[in-house]
Amino acid sequence: MNEVTRPNDLAHVVEADRAHVWHHLVQHKAFETTDPRIFVEGKGMRLWDAAGREYLDAVSGGVWTVNVGYGRESIANAVRDQLVKLNYFAAASGTIAGATFAEKLIEKMPGMTRVYYSNSGSEANEKVFKMVRQISHRHHGGRKWKILYRDRDYHGTTIGALAAAGQAQRRDEYGPYPAGFVEVPHCLEYRSQWGEVENYGEMAADAIEQVILREGTDSVGAICLEPITAGGGVIVPPKGYWEKVVDICRRHEVLLHIDEVVCGVGRTGTWFGHQHYGVKPDFVTMAKGVASGYAAISCTTTTEAVFDLFKDDPTDPMSHFRDISTFGGCVAGPAAALENMRIIEEENLLENTRVMGDRLMAGLAGLAEKHAVIGDVRGKGLFCGAELVVDRKTKEPTPEKQVQAVVADCMGQGVIIGATNRTLPGLNNTLCLSPALISTADDIDRIVAAIDGALGRVFG
Ligand SMILES: Cc1ncc(COP(=O)(O)O)c(C=O)c1O
Repeated sequence: MNEVTRPNDLAHVVEADRAHVWHHLVQHKAFETTDPRIFVEGKGMRLWDAAGREYLDAVSGGVWTVNVGYGRESIANAVRDQLVKLNYFAAASGTIAGATFAEKLIEKMPGMTRVYYSNSGSEANEKVFKMVRQISHRHHGGRKWKILYRDRDYHGTTIGALAAAGQAQRRDEYGPYPAGFVEVPHCLEYRSQWGEVENYGEMAADAIEQVILREGTDSVGAICLEPITAGGGVIVPPKGYWEKVVDICRRHEVLLHIDEVVCGVGRTGTWFGHQHYGVKPDFVTMAKGVASGYAAISCTTTTEAVFDLFKDDPTDPMSHFRDISTFGGCVAGPAAALENMRIIEEENLLENTRVMGDRLMAGLAGLAEKHAVIGDVRGKGLFCGAELVVDRKTKEPTPEKQVQAVVADCMGQGVIIGATNRTLPGLNNTLCLSPALISTADDIDRIVAAIDGALGRVFG
């Protein structure tokens, strides 16, 4: 038998991985002395690795993705049936699954009407950047071309998306970047840029307006924001923030792009994160939880007003959105997404997310009473973070090594948690939790207990 076709010889698999796989976001030197971890199987919220060890996954596949849990046969069957019937055709044409999912998705998104398919969060965001630039060329005489993004937010890995990254450790050394991407301040009150103020949310929004005025209203076309910042430290916008942001966008005619790649499709207990705040966006992008990782799919959704800007002059061959994503035509994506959405509705997972999210937040708040190292607890739904500090008064961030020791200790207990990773220098100090929307009270309690034990062992 060929050396590389021995999938059940797990020792060989580990060696093949060590020899040939370049893992994401990982420094590989360590694999010269330790084995890469190989996951073999998943069911519900549980995973098993090549050594047969069982884990409770509190991060939905590592990066907020497997929202309905592992081993969903109905999604696998929906994908299989679709692939046998029709696996692919370029998305210049339609498909049954593509049209049906678009209709179902739009039902959940008042104000939006159009769905553009591609296959990663980065790509979905790039589509918006291209749309904004084309709108600038065709409708504003080249004005309104700049795109604002926020300190600590992340929008993807491609050069365009990195140009809009508020995370130095993701973007540094990969430039130079395209012109016209401009940063606005973050809205993390715990690390207020203006000291202790009563109306922090409004001040953080005002800071956006100051950037628009500095750059020139005429030059700013759009702003791209996460509804709740994910990898940048689980930042829930403070009171008064979104109302003011929406007002600023309206007054300065700045298109509002909400990046729901993490929050979209249930993570925070509503279909979309921005729906907590009554925000009416012009663009919404989504990826990870759309099909819970059973197929690669991302969506760029727009209002009809945006869509209309691309069909106003049918005589001009340049007037429409001249973009194609080859794998945006894979039909497995919308087939999986349809079944994923059906599961969320049938199993009442939005409600479960709200109830279990409250339990998780209460659990973390309880740990904060016991462990002084927890400086701040933040979150919404099953999307929570605990920022670790050396000293609550100075808020000096806990060194990343110790934060990672907490993660490793939990792993040793068979519970997979996350932490902000390669984001901001000196600020990779927030534990991240995003268990699947199917979490039970027992799962949540076990996650909290694991962190409790880990904090005790790492910090005494
Ligand atoms: C908010 C946000 N937007 C975009 C992306 C990029 O998505 P992808 O990795 O699918 O390209 C991510 C990935 O973590 C993300 O967290």
